[in-house]
Amino acid sequence: MIGVIDSGSGGLSVLLELKKQFPQADFLYYGDIKNAPYGEKTHAELSRLTVDALKFLKDNRVTNVVSACNSVSASMAISLFDTLLSAQHIVEMVGPTVQSFLQDTRRVAVCATQATIDSGMYQNAFHMIDKEITTIAIPDLAGQIEFGATEEDIKNTITKAISAQSTNYDVLVLACTHYPLVQNVFRSVLNDSIEIIDPAHAVAARAKKLFKDEEGSDGKVQFVITKDAGSFRNRVEELFADQRKTIEVLP
Ligand code: DGL
Repeated sequence: MIGVIDSGSGGLSVLLELKKQFPQADFLYYGDIKNAPYGEKTHAELSRLTVDALKFLKDNRVTNVVSACNSVSASMAISLFDTLLSAQHIVEMVGPTVQSFLQDTRRVAVCATQATIDSGMYQNAFHMIDKEITTIAIPDLAGQIEFGATEEDIKNTITKAISAQSTNYDVLVLACTHYPLVQNVFRSVLNDSIEIIDPAHAVAARAKKLFKDEEGSDGKVQFVITKDAGSFRNRVEELFADQRKTIEVLP
């Protein structure tokens, strides 16, 4: 069974791509809605929450894990994965995303939560492949998406953040997994010439390379959330309408 973790709904954008790569696999999705949004938390808080999520997955016998949360990567919690899940393979967001730009000469901008931008993780990773990037922090956006803000409010938040930067880039990477859920709003705000990149493709492709074919089972998704939320349930219904699934709220 493949485990997927996020602060809430963001990882659903990654799960969609994972389902394409592993149609027969069983998934256990952990959405920590009680503690969302993660993007405004400190490293220490994020590390503690990551440990809780990993322990939950381990206790539930996952074989491989996808950390579908950039803010978790930004908290440098990566060593925690290895400490707690030494028998499992782990895929996180930053490495596969940046590596997919190895042969790409276009100018890149990365938009993400404040925690992710402040960590310098993407800046450093792109620097490793000799690319300087533009960064755009979008405070509050992940929380708005998680808790069902109106499209108008979401558009205002995106417009404010995007227009504070010069648009001297060719591609915009949505480096928070919540953002692809409102990709249409990003599209309506950006110049037509700017391509939007959803890192879920690169992350799912990396998982496909790493995880063994033993991931075959009967294709069921178990969603486990730490707090009930109508917006999460609606999103699951919308995105995974024809899938076998259960939603459980942790006590
Ligand atoms: N979706 C997560 C990320 O990729 C967390 C966003 C949040 O909860 O602030 O950063």
